[in-house]
Amino acid sequence: MDSTLAAALADVVAGLEKSDSFVRLVLSGRRRNMQTPAERIDVKPALIKGEVKYQVMQSDGRAMTTKNYSPAEFLALNLLDSGFANILLEQQVGSISVRITKKGDALVHRTKESFEVDLSHDRSKARLLDANDPFLIEVGISDKSGKVKAGKNDKYLQVEEFLRLLAPSLTSAISAGHIAKPTPEKPLSIVDLGCGHAYLTFAAHQYLTSQGIPVNVIGIDVRESARLRNNQIADKLGISKSITFLAEEISQTSLRSADVAIALHACDTATDDAITWAVNSNVKLALIASPMILPLSLLIPVGISIEKINAVILLIALITFLILGLTFLFKPVPKMQSTIIGFVFLLSSLCKSFKLKTLQLSLLKAL
Ligand SMILES: C[S@@+](CC[C@H](N)C(=O)[O-])C[C@H]1O[C@@H](n2cnc3c(N)ncnc32)[C@H](O)[C@@H]1O
Repeated sequence: MDSTLAAALADVVAGLEKSDSFVRLVLSGRRRNMQTPAERIDVKPALIKGEVKYQVMQSDGRAMTTKNYSPAEFLALNLLDSGFANILLEQQVGSISVRITKKGDALVHRTKESFEVDLSHDRSKARLLDANDPFLIEVGISDKSGKVKAGKNDKYLQVEEFLRLLAPSLTSAISAGHIAKPTPEKPLSIVDLGCGHAYLTFAAHQYLTSQGIPVNVIGIDVRESARLRNNQIADKLGISKSITFLAEEISQTSLRSADVAIALHACDTATDDAITWAVNSNVKLALIASPMILPLSLLIPVGISIEKINAVILLIALITFLILGLTFLFKPVPKMQSTIIGFVFLLSSLCKSFKLKTLQLSLLKAL
């Protein structure tokens, strides 16, 4: 073995032996002509029943598995010499990264950076989706090192929140007999309407599969580019038998039925179309989160509900009608009626952009 490599590996082993300052180890990539036991391995310390264990999370490129070892047991696995081309060790103070080239030379980089030790062992319980999960890397939520990208954190949390609602709703629908217990022969059928980049579609597939629920997932989006991209990702993850994408308008989809319909931020008329499709197709469970524009979403955290906003806008509209109506009665002017109609249309389109469908309908009916 190259002496630089031997010295670097000895340093990594020494770092792993100091369990009180160990922060993270990542093994990835494959050395030339060598096979690795997993596509990628992430190791972190975890305090379990008062003892520090090394929590080993392995990815086979499709799913994650997690096992805990004592530091000595972990070192005995000899994973540093199991064909990985990249080894990254982070300690409380300092990191070592080793990259083994095709020729077998070691490129070693050391830093004096500080890292925080995280001894929590229930990360997978707190997080439904592990940021390292290969599907999150493929859909572009996490970067290649398995960290959620800064600009994608909101989407990551949003998708997780959706799963937190979906999972118990599904369990109760199954236990109440509304949905038949899924089996490998008759998996649960789920459709994601207006799936876009399919963050939620893949998340639902991977999460429910990891919970032992056989699923068949279909993502529908009007864009052909979304269909191509998402089907390619499914192929890459080796799951295209149970997840597929169609480029179709929701209102004209060839899909006739599903057990569960989901939709997240389906824009334009897609949320309405999703609800209509779910009702007409007699789906047993529909979870549909509509998009909301910024000014309204800012009002909700301060305690103003959509109903109140609706009521205030309706009141303003009625007062305006009254004033315009009275003006018209007492002092009819040419084109006054078309002004009123124009005003109603203006308000109506405002409501549309605010997604206040009920109010928009009542205004149009008032015409
Ligand atoms: C804001 S994106 C949301 C995507 C995804 N659900 C998410 O949360 O990341 C809305 C998606 O709905 C799709 N869409 C809009 N109208 C549609 C329609 N009538 N039928 C099918 N897809 C539609 C768009 O192409 C877009 O990809």
